[in-house]
Amino acid sequence: MSSKKSISAKTKKSESKTTKEKAKTPVAKPTKATAAFQLLRGMKDILPVDAPYWKLLYETAAKLADHFGYETIETPILEPRDLFIRGVGKQTDIVEKEMYSFTDTGGENVVLRPEGTASVVRAYIEHGMLNLPQPVKLFYQGPMFRHDRPQHGRYRQFHQACCEALGDEHPVIDAELISLCYAFFQELGLPVVIHLNSLGCQACRENYRTELINYYRSKRSLLCQNCKERLNRNPLRLLDCKEPGCEMVKDGAPQMLDKLDEACHAHFFKVIEYLDDMGLPYSINPFIVRGLDYYNRTVFEIFSEKNAENVESVKSVESVENVKKAAGEEPGNLPAQAALAGGGRYDGLAEILGGRPTPGAGFAIGLERVIALMKEKSVVPPPLPAPKVFIAQLGESARRKSLALYHKLRGKVKVAASFSKDGLKQQLEIANRLGVRYTLIIGQKEVLDETVIIRDMEAGIQEVAAYNKVAAEMERRLNN
Ligand code: HAM
Repeated sequence: MSSKKSISAKTKKSESKTTKEKAKTPVAKPTKATAAFQLLRGMKDILPVDAPYWKLLYETAAKLADHFGYETIETPILEPRDLFIRGVGKQTDIVEKEMYSFTDTGGENVVLRPEGTASVVRAYIEHGMLNLPQPVKLFYQGPMFRHDRPQHGRYRQFHQACCEALGDEHPVIDAELISLCYAFFQELGLPVVIHLNSLGCQACRENYRTELINYYRSKRSLLCQNCKERLNRNPLRLLDCKEPGCEMVKDGAPQMLDKLDEACHAHFFKVIEYLDDMGLPYSINPFIVRGLDYYNRTVFEIFSEKNAENVESVKSVESVENVKKAAGEEPGNLPAQAALAGGGRYDGLAEILGGRPTPGAGFAIGLERVIALMKEKSVVPPPLPAPKVFIAQLGESARRKSLALYHKLRGKVKVAASFSKDGLKQQLEIANRLGVRYTLIIGQKEVLDETVIIRDMEAGIQEVAAYNKVAAEMERRLNN
């Protein structure tokens, strides 16, 4: 009661003071300068709770790449703007609408890389990798940037794990890349299917292009505005449009696979033969055209089994809507038709970027989408290793000793501490919460005796050990 009284008396006092102050100074409203900052739209923080997912994906990708003989390359996030205008293609969505592009203080036109293939091919040319034994097999992972319309599974900064094989046009390279990409999902226990197509070479594409334009012209009134505009400039892109009306028109469109010349046909069927030999689950999908202009011959995308059904079942306006409702729009589920990975062959890219003619093929896996699928399928990554030892101290001289012991234990066992805390009870509570096996306690007496108390947290037993020997002792007990 008395404490309540004193609180309310205090409050009254401070209230009256505040009222007086209020009369003098107006209440400060949060201004732009003091308001808390928020993420930019389409950006995402990766929080510690998701760290086990990221660790698993980065390590799985790196392990597989190493197993398949792909060496690591890292290229800058900032690249010349023209690299992607020429490489990815002026008339692609990425270049037309989605690049984070600006002029730097030196007057250079730069972009945050929207993808990595053009960068890797630039590096291949720039560092004379043509002189190395071919194919040059390269692996990289990191952030990409596209100013796209954000939605679940589509971000403005996202992460890819990618492989590129340069300098070899043999179809076995395509099959190897597809199997490597597929192996990534197998390792994670995610059921996926491969959708495969061939875009032929430039010569077969020319004939196909004319046929496609003629077909779409006859259905022009059914197309979305974007497709109407793209019809003459980039007709292949129309096959990729997800607007319901365009989806329907697409079903009757002529197919590239029927127009392949002999060499492209043979190349494609070799890829299929190799995939059959490996028993990989693929289906031929004539509508995989990819959103980047550098592709020729083999192209592929990987879908979760559920989303693959959606990709194939989209036959009418009604079914598009149903599919979206059923699979895409609930929170936590990837939108229908969201590819988990995509890639293919790009034999003309090196030349476009100023190098010698050099065949190439590769793929990129969208890591955010893989994590979304893992969560959907309840695939749980192994937890990060927990600390096994906690160091607790009582007093300043013990704190100094415990800090030194913390360093002695580094690399031997995983150890935690709360050096700024003083009370033993509080520190033991933290140790309990962390679930450590042992707590090492140093108090005033232990500082003088050059000892440490070892508390077995499971058995509740304490014993005393020499300060100099305790690190080795912990290593012996925990690593055996
Ligand atoms: P891409 O199809 O543009 O290909 O991207 C590959 C994967 O990255 C997609 O399948 C998707 O999983 C993920 N992805 C793309 N955009 C986003 C986004 N806005 N938010 C989240 N994830 C996204 C490429 O980037 C090519 N460089 C692949 C390649 C390598 N081709 C040959 N070599």
